[in-house]
Amino acid sequence: MSAPLVQLVNIPQHGDTRGKLSVAELGGVLPFAVRRVYWIHGTKLGVSRGFHAHKKLRQLYVCVSGSVRLSLFDGHREESVVLDSSAKGLLIGPGLWREMHDFSPDCVLMVFADAEYDEADYIRDREAFIRHVTG
Ligand code: TYD
Repeated sequence: MSAPLVQLVNIPQHGDTRGKLSVAELGGVLPFAVRRVYWIHGTKLGVSRGFHAHKKLRQLYVCVSGSVRLSLFDGHREESVVLDSSAKGLLIGPGLWREMHDFSPDCVLMVFADAEYDEADYIRDREAFIRHVTG
């Protein structure tokens, strides 16, 4: 059986009477040292994003507010997962085409990455991606 495309991790949450505090740290849910954090928010109704893969980049996606559906494709199989909790993280490695759909208006999607932004690491054409992963 091939490895699952969707790699979900449980983010430790420390709750008390004041509310919650969630932690993503190296050696905990983060299997890599973070060199960049960005977040996607204020997404307009009906907009989908992503439509690319990375050659090397590793990322952890956490939907800290609202919800979003991530679709992952490895060139053969497609799997979809809804992120709707700040206690859930989605690890995405290289060689996965990703699309983001169904953003709720209050969605804040935080992304932790192991490298700085580099357009040369992107594959933005789906056919080129399929050629990249299938050789
Ligand atoms: P892009 O990766 O295309 O967004 P998405 O795939 O989520 O639709 O990025 C949108 C724009 O933001 C693009 O012009 C590149 C720029 N950008 C940066 O400058 N730094 C970053 O870290 C990221 C993720 C994007």
